[in-house]
Amino acid sequence: MRILTGLQPSGKLHIGNYFGAMQGAVRLQEEGDAFYFIANYHAMTSTSDPGALKENVTELAIDFLACGLDPDKATFYRQSDIPEVNELAWILSTVCPMGLLERCHSYKDKVAKGLSANHALFAYPVLMAADILLYDANLVPVGEDQKQHLEVTRDLCGKINDLYGADTLVMPDARINEQVAKVPGLDGQKMSKSYNNTIPIFGAQKKTRKLFMSIKTDSTPVEEPKSTEDSVILDLYRLFASDSDYQQMLTDFQAGGFGYGDFKQRLFDAYWEHFAPMREKRETYAADPAQVEEILRSGADRAREEADKVLQRVRKAAGIR
Ligand code: ADP
Ligand code: TRP
Repeated sequence: MRILTGLQPSGKLHIGNYFGAMQGAVRLQEEGDAFYFIANYHAMTSTSDPGALKENVTELAIDFLACGLDPDKATFYRQSDIPEVNELAWILSTVCPMGLLERCHSYKDKVAKGLSANHALFAYPVLMAADILLYDANLVPVGEDQKQHLEVTRDLCGKINDLYGADTLVMPDARINEQVAKVPGLDGQKMSKSYNNTIPIFGAQKKTRKLFMSIKTDSTPVEEPKSTEDSVILDLYRLFASDSDYQQMLTDFQAGGFGYGDFKQRLFDAYWEHFAPMREKRETYAADPAQVEEILRSGADRAREEADKVLQRVRKAAGIR
């Protein structure tokens, strides 16, 4: 079974990304032939700063490796190292109705947020379909927000197979990560770059502690019991703490006599400890960018072998070989 997913290099990873995307991907590399890539062509739809784009790719590669991606198990590559994906995107676009793309929420949301309504942003789901179909992927783990893009992918795959033969492309299935509830941000909304409420996975200690201390709470006095409903502190603590520590905090919330500062400190300590081994690993990779580059390069060699096979099959079926 081939498992494939991509992540956009768009700045510092936050703990929502970790629990919503990376942790699942790292677990899945044990279950099949994993292909994980850094979607830097896609990132060009939201940034045109060459320096930032390049740096974000390296940083994401380091973060992903630090979080447990094992390059001996998973094929890890940079999207643009296999530019053949653009050829498949073109072929897919010949069967893609305008209406299918016009209905995509993500396009409409991004334009509403001020991104330029250019062709790349509009065609984003077609390139994403090519990312998946070029590698005969069977299973694509993604967040809820990418569900519609997977439907577009399946739709295009079906159209190509109807036109050129049922064996032309492999039909992928989405695996939507529904067990992971949305990780809340500092203000209680979903943690997201766009809301400026994120906690980084790999931030500096003092600065990150300050962030935890800024979590929004109500003004219940220290001695009184605290509400456990919709508590950002409890929701985050559940991600890091052992069951018994979590139960203890729950009890202390209900008993009163503890201030929010105390709970936030416990939360910060659990967070810091949770990511400690990954932080250490990150330092090792960060000190050796050549090794990171080599991992991506050898991943690309392996990915290209697969891509060539599929592309030749499609070219032949479509009569353009
Ligand atoms: P952001 O909302 O910060 O822009 P992205 O859209 O780049 O994050 O998300 C990348 C991945 O991380 C997606 O798979 C998404 O589902 C997951 N993710 C992002 N934020 C959260 C969150 N708060 N809770 C759970 N998963 C999240
Ligand atoms: N669009 C995805 C996101 O923003 C990233 C992505 C690009 C992707 N191509 C992909 C994910 C192919 C899965 C499969 O999260």
